[in-house]
Amino acid sequence: MHDETPGSDTPAWTREHAAGITRRDDATAPVIYPPETNTDPDYHVWDTWLLRERDGSIATPGGYRVIFCLSAPAELLPGKRHDVATIRYFYSTDGEEWYRGGVAVDPDAAFGSRQWAGSALLDDDGTCYLYYTAAGQSGEEDLTYTQRLACAAGGTVETGGQGLSLQGPWEHEILAEPDGDWYETEDQSRGMIYTFRDPWFFEDPADGETYLLFEANTPVPEGSPACGGDAAQQEFNGSIGIAHSPSGDPTDWTLQGPLLDAVGVNQELERPHIVVDDGRYYLFTASHVHTFAPGLSGYDALYGFVADDLRGDYQPLNDSGLVLTNPKNAPFQAYSWMVYKHRNELLVTSFFNYYDFDRPSLDDVALLPEDEQMRRFGGTLAPTVRLGFGDGETWLRGVLKHGHLPTEDEDLPPADFAERYGTRDAEESGYLYR
Ligand code: FRU
Repeated sequence: MHDETPGSDTPAWTREHAAGITRRDDATAPVIYPPETNTDPDYHVWDTWLLRERDGSIATPGGYRVIFCLSAPAELLPGKRHDVATIRYFYSTDGEEWYRGGVAVDPDAAFGSRQWAGSALLDDDGTCYLYYTAAGQSGEEDLTYTQRLACAAGGTVETGGQGLSLQGPWEHEILAEPDGDWYETEDQSRGMIYTFRDPWFFEDPADGETYLLFEANTPVPEGSPACGGDAAQQEFNGSIGIAHSPSGDPTDWTLQGPLLDAVGVNQELERPHIVVDDGRYYLFTASHVHTFAPGLSGYDALYGFVADDLRGDYQPLNDSGLVLTNPKNAPFQAYSWMVYKHRNELLVTSFFNYYDFDRPSLDDVALLPEDEQMRRFGGTLAPTVRLGFGDGETWLRGVLKHGHLPTEDEDLPPADFAERYGTRDAEESGYLYR
């Protein structure tokens, strides 16, 4: 099962790093307002990912790009959406207007009582692999929080006169479950929220090896010396997990020890993914204000780390790890950020979460009357944020429209925040004013 032994040399996000988190201007997105129309007026959509090729580039079958989103009926109270999440897909020729494709992962055929976030691969031979989190067990009467990494494999993408469609048959398979050694099982969990989810396909350009990243927790048994023996801190034991496919087969995975550990720092390192630029590995993850360990404070935000090779040693971007967060007066306006590279900048996608809401905790949403809970939930793609990056730093450069996900051939307008934050870009390359 294992192809290397666990070691204490796992790169870590430490309390010292995280203690430096502050809401810098150049890490803070502007306030988001609702778009004229939602991505799908009939469904709440949230976590989103692009169909990609093996090398990570955005797939464009028939000239379309495809996104996958978690979805739930729009009439459902937004807080209940995770309990019924279904993966749907949308496609676009211009990366701005998204057409509805329908259900991507058939909930009746899939593992889990609902399907959570994942990634999607269009392989070189045209075979499609839809990775997802199987949450709970299919058919269960009472929801459970078991999580397994799963895949629907074997489908194809058809394009033609009438747009794009995903065609089966799909074969569903469980790819990985926690081993209890590197990755905590639900039974071992002492923390607030249990995680083993969000599979994300990655091919290492350095050697062509094939990996699956995921969100996990590191086992910290009671009485462990971790965090100086502080039991309260030990309950916050997030990690970024990784599995390897020795043969390159996108369904054949062997767990390896974690890529990054955040024991004593944060409980949830969600939707981990990597952008490689110029031989450097930028590892991103989303996390929450309420999942930081006692004595630390952070935000609902995108965090990131950079290393010279896949295994690290990862250093937090901007020293603390904070890359992009929401403004103070709208701290939950966006979540579940995913980054991809566009020429020499990073584009950050996310979904429009709760707006017109400045309470310190998202739990307080439940105190609002139901119609207000509905009104204040975006449930659609958020504006894409543009970041500059280099020398271990990232900075805000601009914002595109809701759900605008440009591809390589699209020239972007000059950066909006050039005057405020862009001096580094301008000095370096003149790129801003090209
Ligand atoms: C992030 C997340 C994912 C999970 C999904 C469930 O927004 O917590 O980790 O797959 O939401 O809705």
